[in-house]
Amino acid sequence: MIGIDMTGRVTLITGAGGGIADVFAKAAAKVYVADLEIEDAKAKAGQLREKGLQALAVGLDVTKKEEIYSLVDRIVKEDGKIDHLINCAGISYNKPYMESTDDEFRSILEVNLISVHNCCQAVLQQMIPRKEGKIVNILSASSRMGSDFFSHYSSSKFGLLGLTQSIGLAAARHNINVNGICPGLIETGLGEKQGGGLIQQMSRHSGKSQDVLRENLRRSIPLRRFQSGEDIGHMALFLCSDLAKNITCQAINVCGGMRMN
Ligand SMILES: NC(=O)c1ccc[n+]([C@@H]2O[C@H](COP(=O)([O-])OP(=O)(O)OC[C@H]3O[C@@H](n4cnc5c(N)ncnc54)[C@H](O)[C@@H]3O)[C@@H](O)[C@H]2O)c1
Repeated sequence: MIGIDMTGRVTLITGAGGGIADVFAKAAAKVYVADLEIEDAKAKAGQLREKGLQALAVGLDVTKKEEIYSLVDRIVKEDGKIDHLINCAGISYNKPYMESTDDEFRSILEVNLISVHNCCQAVLQQMIPRKEGKIVNILSASSRMGSDFFSHYSSSKFGLLGLTQSIGLAAARHNINVNGICPGLIETGLGEKQGGGLIQQMSRHSGKSQDVLRENLRRSIPLRRFQSGEDIGHMALFLCSDLAKNITCQAINVCGGMRMN
């Protein structure tokens, strides 16, 4: 029987982790759930610990380089290493291109792209001497197709695809794998703090009800269902396992067939 056992492995996930933290904790990794919203991180880690799993909540603003470096130092002091880095923290603005502002472009590039570069460099500094480690960046179906409705988001995720391939090349000579996952559609709070979630904002701009838009989106997916955080977690777990030791610099679609490139 083939299974994935992460006993003794240390996983750092930015963004509260949603289903990704659950999957790694269930596979017996020690999971650090790092988020700007410390209460969300505490809630997630608390739920996992109640199930007897290993999870710790930490406050982290990924746009603050010094916070990233001090967190990496702290984990390495406590656990001796970081085996997996999952860059999941992200934001989105949902609005037509002609209403998009310079400030929105700057802030989304800061969170979705530059912070991933900083997290990868900080963690690679301790992975490279060990010649071991896995990094997974959460990209998007919007890494492969532009959108009038979230042009800044799509731009940041196209950039993150290039960054993932580039860091993957730099890390490969050190036996470190770097990959991306392109989720399709997951109903989460993405974009809510930036003015409204995707379906809510599409409804506001189109005049169609949220139920009609949700159903239209569902029908646009060949498998006719949205994805879940766990779907993304399962792919991340596979990419961090020895089963995927020869996979690097890739971006894997987990989108019910919505994208094929
Ligand atoms: N929801 C989808 O349909 C979808 C599709 C494709 C890709 N994604 C990607 O999945 C990832 C997770 O998004 P989600 O849908 O779970 O949304 P979410 O809003 O539920 O999760 C994003 C998390 O990132 C955190 N965050 C935001 N700014 C941060 C910062 N500066 N420092 C630290 N943490 C910060 C938020 O607090 C939040 O917990 C994102 O990278 C997103 O782009 C989501």
